[in-house]
Amino acid sequence: MTGRRTQFRGVGAYLPERIVTNDELAARMDTSDAWIRERTGIRERRIAAPDEKTSDLALEASRRALAAAGRDACELDLIVLATATPDRTFPSTATAVQAGLGMTGGAAFDVQAVCSGFIYALAVADNFIRAGQSRSALVIGAETFSRILDWNERETSVLFGDGAGAVVLEACEDDPRHLLSTHLHSDGRHGDMLYVDGGPSSTRTVGHLRMKGREVFKHAVTNLTEVVDEALAANGLGPEAIDWVVPHQANLRILRATGRKLGIGDDRVIVTVDRHANTSAASIPLALAAGVGDGRISEGDMLLLEAMGGGFTWGAALARW
Ligand code: ACO
Repeated sequence: MTGRRTQFRGVGAYLPERIVTNDELAARMDTSDAWIRERTGIRERRIAAPDEKTSDLALEASRRALAAAGRDACELDLIVLATATPDRTFPSTATAVQAGLGMTGGAAFDVQAVCSGFIYALAVADNFIRAGQSRSALVIGAETFSRILDWNERETSVLFGDGAGAVVLEACEDDPRHLLSTHLHSDGRHGDMLYVDGGPSSTRTVGHLRMKGREVFKHAVTNLTEVVDEALAANGLGPEAIDWVVPHQANLRILRATGRKLGIGDDRVIVTVDRHANTSAASIPLALAAGVGDGRISEGDMLLLEAMGGGFTWGAALARW
């Protein structure tokens, strides 16, 4: 390895206190714990308090990531925050986090790639660091999807939850523990398969999430398998080189089907969808925090991060932790 690369220094997560079980949803709508578990693997999700904003979740996750990294916010020169549920249309949620951290220098902005947002934000920060424009970056995935769900629609409202996760990245030289590569894709022809039916320039409303679940499922498994193959091939690696897959947590069936196609066993996949549901851009750093926190992921492990989301957007990253 030569030249300037990006290293993970720490990860942090924050989940709202309120737990909503499948049984609680079944008391409100025509669904059941058995249906939700069987089709998705979800048992429960966290829902933000009425006064809790995406930036509040993001700020707490960021503080925890900084503490894990042993770094102070004033050492950062970049915040890239992935969200599809910003506090406001503008300014960016990243600048709210910047202010909350008491950081007055550097640059802060949002990235919008829905469930792939964390991989996109990671790729942006990695390119800033490798180009020498940034030395120390905070990359955040934070969402309050509960605010854009149509709670009268059982097909979508049972699938999502709220949460945030963050990582601290730093430039390194000649250290095998670094981000190997990131791989991003999108195909806007599929915009109507997973979308929000509102927005400032179309309906002037926030809108609600709409999804063609079966179509999304099919595309997800195909696209994720292809981008993971691409990431492995780019680094001359096979699936056996992966210690842990840290995937976007859309649905247990997607995770299992993708793992099977790639030849990566369930025992090497970090799963949090059962407790968190789908937290969109927050799900990868939340899963990373879970794997690091309980000691499964340890220094030097090879990690594969992958995600697919609305757009469609999808991507993967390989990193030695
Ligand atoms: N409770 C009970 N019954 C339900 C519910 C519910 N919450 N939702 C739908 N049903 C019913 C349907 O009405 C249908 O009834 P019918 O047979 O009488 O018409 C039946 O269950 C089957 O519906 P399908 O939509 O065909 O069910 P499917 O097996 O496809 O599962 C699901 C639906 C879970 C959404 C699946 O398609 C899926 O996982 N898709 C991927 C979507 C996803 O994960 N999106 C996340 C965002 S994208 C991403 O992050 C990758």
